[in-house]
Amino acid sequence: MNTFRNITLTVISALLMSVCGYSQQLTKEQEAKLNDLISKMTLEEKAGQMTQITIQTISKTQGTKDQKHVLDDAKLEEAISKYHVGSILNVFDVAHDIDYWHEIITKIQTAAKDKTRLKIPVIYGIDAIHGATYTKGATLFPQALGLASTWNTALAKTVGDVTAIEAGASGIYWNFNPVLDLGRQPLWPRLWETYGEDVYLAQQLGGAYIYGSQNNPLVGPGKFMTCLKHYVGYSFPLNGLDRTPAYMSERTLREYSLPPFEAGIKAGSKTVMVNSGEIDGIPGHANHFLLTEVLRGELKFDGFVVSDWEDIKRLYTRDRVADSPKEAVRLAVMAGVDMSMVPTDYSFYECVVELAKEGKLPMWRIDEAVKRILAVKMGMGLFENAFPNKELKKHFATEEHTRQNLEAATESIILLKNKDNTLPLSKKQKVFVTGPTANMLSVLNGGWTITWQGNEEVLYPQEKHTILEAIQTEITKTQVTYAEGISFDKEGKIDDAVKLAKSSDVVILCLGEPAYCETPGNIYDLTLPDAQINYAKKLKAAGKKLVVVLVQGRPRVMNEIAEIADAIMVGFLPGMEGGRAIADLLFGDENPSGKLPVTYPKYPNGITLYDYKPIESADQNGYKPQYEFGFGLSYTTYTYSNLKLSSYEISENGSLTVTVDIKNTGSRKGKEIVQLYLTDLFGSVSRPNKQIKGFDKVELAPGETKTVSFTITKDHLSFIGLENKRITEPGKFKVKVAGLESEFILK
Ligand code: BGC
Repeated sequence: MNTFRNITLTVISALLMSVCGYSQQLTKEQEAKLNDLISKMTLEEKAGQMTQITIQTISKTQGTKDQKHVLDDAKLEEAISKYHVGSILNVFDVAHDIDYWHEIITKIQTAAKDKTRLKIPVIYGIDAIHGATYTKGATLFPQALGLASTWNTALAKTVGDVTAIEAGASGIYWNFNPVLDLGRQPLWPRLWETYGEDVYLAQQLGGAYIYGSQNNPLVGPGKFMTCLKHYVGYSFPLNGLDRTPAYMSERTLREYSLPPFEAGIKAGSKTVMVNSGEIDGIPGHANHFLLTEVLRGELKFDGFVVSDWEDIKRLYTRDRVADSPKEAVRLAVMAGVDMSMVPTDYSFYECVVELAKEGKLPMWRIDEAVKRILAVKMGMGLFENAFPNKELKKHFATEEHTRQNLEAATESIILLKNKDNTLPLSKKQKVFVTGPTANMLSVLNGGWTITWQGNEEVLYPQEKHTILEAIQTEITKTQVTYAEGISFDKEGKIDDAVKLAKSSDVVILCLGEPAYCETPGNIYDLTLPDAQINYAKKLKAAGKKLVVVLVQGRPRVMNEIAEIADAIMVGFLPGMEGGRAIADLLFGDENPSGKLPVTYPKYPNGITLYDYKPIESADQNGYKPQYEFGFGLSYTTYTYSNLKLSSYEISENGSLTVTVDIKNTGSRKGKEIVQLYLTDLFGSVSRPNKQIKGFDKVELAPGETKTVSFTITKDHLSFIGLENKRITEPGKFKVKVAGLESEFILK
């Protein structure tokens, strides 16, 4: 067994330990201290603990590319001393350097320590979603969808680790990540924040990320806290637009949306952020059933629940399920929201105080929320020390982190087409590099990079390489010609570009999407803009090999390009080292190993996912993807053989082992993701075509064979039955690994 697999297995067993062992249970003394503290708190102090404001609220000037952010000391004191604010979030509005973060956090925690009666530390939260996104110079990894394309739990753990170190080094210990919403609606502009369309994949990667984040020895186990978002069902808007309604039965919700959150809770996360949208007419923030009965009663979550941005107010202003701002607060708190991301005023605080005085919000509920918040602060050790740990600074953005980032980026790139072995390219060729994503860093990183939208190209670190710059370094500058050719959606000087194409040996056409985040990323058509498709056709007509590199946050439909391109590579926001990774892969320094974590649709309306129902099969209603979930090519070839089951029967509480041999039959070393799919052949509820229930990434030298094994238990065979409860049903199951299959019976 090689080191690579050892790491994977270590992580998985560590994860299992985390599931059973890691907990942030307070000691008896801590519990007593907490109760004593709460008994001393006034109503106002409690309402303050439940309040989260943005740093904007306590700032004099916004940070921009030309102006430094300035904190307003008087407003800070007002927030902490007068309103007893328990939490602050975000930046206003660009990334700070690490020393400035230290200054800000130190001021905030000093105010909490010196200007309040009870000296309760502030919990500072940030969206450090692919690394410490708001600290200048941080290691910025592939976004979650890119990370999911690696199918590598060890890398997911590394991203968690490094994020904890670098955000922690900035003095920030609470991260609004991971997104455990499933990416099952490709139009949704937040697809790239997810680990893709599959429950099992999201559980494994999310669990590993949380484990890494919360157990890093440098930061201190438990010191850095993740936040599971956005509980629950947010990612499946019917029309694909952000913050629009999802319609989903309880069965579907329990089958697809809840299990990743369940895994996140088991992995030790103690905070949850609420779905900004609505399901079946009930806004996430008003949903008592999901926030209290399910989350607390069933999933046994004992941390605290934070609202999303302004969403309690929106129960009145947008959803109109409350007829006043005060009623909105009552509704949300009684539904189970413990902390409000208000985020720019003290209205929530005022409403809580008034509601309590009027007897409309019971004190038990306020105490419950406050106790949950303080318990998390205590478990994180903030009462002992909430100040930046200067020691961590020397571990910020190290060479080792960059190396790990390059490894993650390289494994995240997926080779979708490679006609006649067009790739890897010879380093002796003359290449013409073109397209709107060829010479930008923002397109490799996407939203939440330096700024919220991630599209301030001038703020990106100049020493990092765009795809063009990486290619120029990979071969020699003189071999490379470049013209942008077109913008994302407008035609440009195409004739000039075609001339350059004709005078080169190969065209590397870089297409995709600009950076965006949340609602501004809404689109009405999943197809790549006409300008990009037409440009590909014109370049193809130049008669040279056409290599298309797509960098994007969601699988933009491109069936015409898929027809004509000689090779296609896709990167779902591979991060700051994405340019280097792509160049290394194009020229064969590395061998592609990424696989699709989502189905790549062929048609804008052809959104049928890989685990489709029998009624959606190709000969029925047309499962016709461009590329299947789990698909990705390599420069070598693999042959699978000897699929064996330890038994052909399994009892409800038993297990069986599946083994399979995999051989590298090509001439290059490579990493292959062995995927185990199960099909429940008959069920009282229609069962998916197939579901991934195990995967392992193995590295194989040319000619080398390895045996991979998977254990199947009840967990892999269960589903949500007619009564909306998780059940197993006796019957036949099919196991598939690559082209091999076998069957067994659950007795
Ligand atoms: C997003 C959250 C994010 C929060 C704080 C909201 O708009 O939906 O995902 O954590 O802002 O920045």
